[in-house]
Order: sequence, then C-alpha cells, then structure tokens
Amino acid sequence: MKIISTSHPNQSAPPPRKKLIEVALPLDAINKASAREKSIRHGHPSTLHLWWARRPLAAARAVIFSQMVDDPSAYVDVLRADPKLRRKAEAVLKARLKLWQEARTLAEKAKEAGLPVPEPGPAPTLDDMLADQERQRLFRIIEDLVLWENTTNEKVLQAARDEIWQSWRRTCAENAGHPRAKELFDRHKLPAFHDPFAGGGALPLEAQRLGLESYASDLNPVAVLINKAMIEIPPKFAGRPPVNPESRGKLDHSRSWLGAQGLAEDVRYYGQWMRDEAEKADRIPLPENRDHGGNGERETGSETVRGAKTHGDRLALGAHGEEPESGLRARGRTTRLQFHTFHQGRPRGLHRAGD
Ligand SMILES: C[S@@+](CC[C@H](N)C(=O)[O-])C[C@H]1O[C@@H](n2cnc3c(N)ncnc32)[C@H](O)[C@@H]1O
Repeated sequence: MKIISTSHPNQSAPPPRKKLIEVALPLDAINKASAREKSIRHGHPSTLHLWWARRPLAAARAVIFSQMVDDPSAYVDVLRADPKLRRKAEAVLKARLKLWQEARTLAEKAKEAGLPVPEPGPAPTLDDMLADQERQRLFRIIEDLVLWENTTNEKVLQAARDEIWQSWRRTCAENAGHPRAKELFDRHKLPAFHDPFAGGGALPLEAQRLGLESYASDLNPVAVLINKAMIEIPPKFAGRPPVNPESRGKLDHSRSWLGAQGLAEDVRYYGQWMRDEAEKADRIPLPENRDHGGNGERETGSETVRGAKTHGDRLALGAHGEEPESGLRARGRTTRLQFHTFHQGRPRGLHRAGD
C-alpha cells in the first residue's frame, strides 16, 4: 500500500532548513547589549514616550536576524566546496578528533574499572567543523549588530541584510517547485513582518531596520501612536528638508537630508516652540483651588505646565537622536498600522491608521 502524506502541498519539498535561532545564539553579547540599553537616554524610542513593557532593541534585532538566517548546517555542502574554509575546518577537525579519541579511551578505561563516566558522544565530522566555523562568522555579525553604537551603522546593517537575503534566496530556490512559489517564494521580495501585539514597537522597528516591510498592530491606542511615530510617519518624510521657518531661512540647497533628518529638525523646532509656549502659560495663574476628580488633590498651573514641558522634551529628544533616521535610510518603506476600536467591550472594526 502506498501512503501519501497530504500535509504539505509540495510533495517533493525537502524538510525545512533550521534557522540559526533554533541552533545557537551569542547570548552573552545579546544580554550585555540589552542590559546596557536601559541606561541610554538619548535617541532611544524610550525617550519618545513611556512604554511599560518596552523590549530592548538589541534583543529584538538579534532575534529577528537569527530567525531570518539559516543555520549553517542547512548549507554545509556549499561550505564544503570552498577550499579555504575546508582547509581551516580540516585543521580544527584534526585537533578535535585527537581530543575526542582521548576522551573515548578514558571513558573505556573508566567503564572497565566500573566507574560511571559519560560517553564522549559521536566523533566530530568535517561538516560539524564547517558549520561551527560559519556559525562563529554569523555570531560576529550579531555581536556587531546588537551594539547601540551600531544602530545607524550602515555597514553593519547592510552585512546583516545581505545575510538575510542570502538565506531567503536559498529558501526560494529550494521551494521553486511549490505550487504557490511565485507568490510565496519571490526571490526579489523578502517576506513581510507583522507584530500583531506590537506594544512599544521594538520588533517592527528592528524588522524595518533589517529591510523587511513591517506591520504593527495593537489594541492600545498609545501603542499605536508610538508605532506610528516610529515606523509609519518617518519614512513618509525620508530625504525631505525641514519646513519650519527657521530652517527654511537658512536652508543650504546643496545639503542632502538623509532619512528623517529634516523631520527631526522640524520636531526639534516645534518641540522648542511647545516648550516656550508652555513656559509662557506657566506665568498665567490658574485658579488656585482646582480639585481634580474630587480626591482632594489640587492641580496648580505650574504642575500642569510641567507635564507639558516634559512631553515637549520627550518629543524633541526622540527626534533628536539617530533612531528614526536609521530606520529610514535602510529601506524607506512605509509601515501600516492597524488599530482596533472597542465599543462596550466589543470590537467595532479593524482600521488601518490613515485610512
Ligand atoms: C507584551 S506587550 C507587547 C510586546 C511587544 N510585542 C514587544 O516585543 O515589545 C503585549 C501587547 O499586546 C497588546 N494586546 C493585548 N491584547 C490584544 C489584542 N486582543 N489585540 C491587539 N493587541 C493586544 C497590549 O496592548 C500590549 O501592547
């Protein structure tokens, strides 16, 4: 009897390649960079608006990258065909085999003496060495990628994007026989990214930075606003000069405005304007005994304005750093955001922001 599996439309498809994240990660480097980010107070999305469950950008960047790239065990045949890599791997294998042989002899002797010693496992192979070597190369890309200083480093980002593309092309070639290959495995178009619970937007921002078309949605309108400010609005102004009167007055037409630099100038200008206006308002005395919510807490004019000042500062800071610019220069794609509106606990509809 012939048994045919119907679980996959493409009967001849090989088993999926393992992605790097399924095999190994340079966790120490990712953890260190993620922890360090907590103390960065300039140009980080955390300065745009408070978000309680904010995830580190370093971790988001590393996780997306290692989900997109193949583990080297999936293309060891290619590595084996490279004489330079092969020679290096053969040298390492020789040393490893010697160690393995010693461990095995020890284990055998211990066994004869009735001592419980673990087996050294299977003998290392040339393919193992080649894959290990290649994994180390990918780890170095991640170690560079997670550093905050490299957030806008085009060379580092491009190296990561190139790896993603290479893995994607391998996947496309492997799935060329898939009935929907044209639509699902287009070697000229990376798959899009969607975080349906985007929160502070670390994942969609980093996906966009790595060259993926990025989508975000969230139930919470504050999260939607943060995502809009980070990944939807800046690309719309990519490469454009500022429009505020001060910058326009001294505009140097020979200068090019990379990414969201022009937009950042405007946010800085209007952030300052808001701050100045708030300061002016500070001088206008508000009624002394304003009692909010009947809880006995008084809100004075200055307290109200301080809130506004802080917000103005945050806007200015958020736009001042390289953060939005980096996201843009990379690809200049627009991220569409979705938000749900709820009415009496039931969803009223799903909208695309800007529709
Ligand atoms: C843990 S946070 C998001 C973390 C985010 N993915 C990250 O990596 O930083 C979970 C988010 O899911 C959102 N959420 C919860 N239930 C949801 C729902 N039914 N639809 C859309 N968003 C929802 C919350 O508003 C919150 O922002």
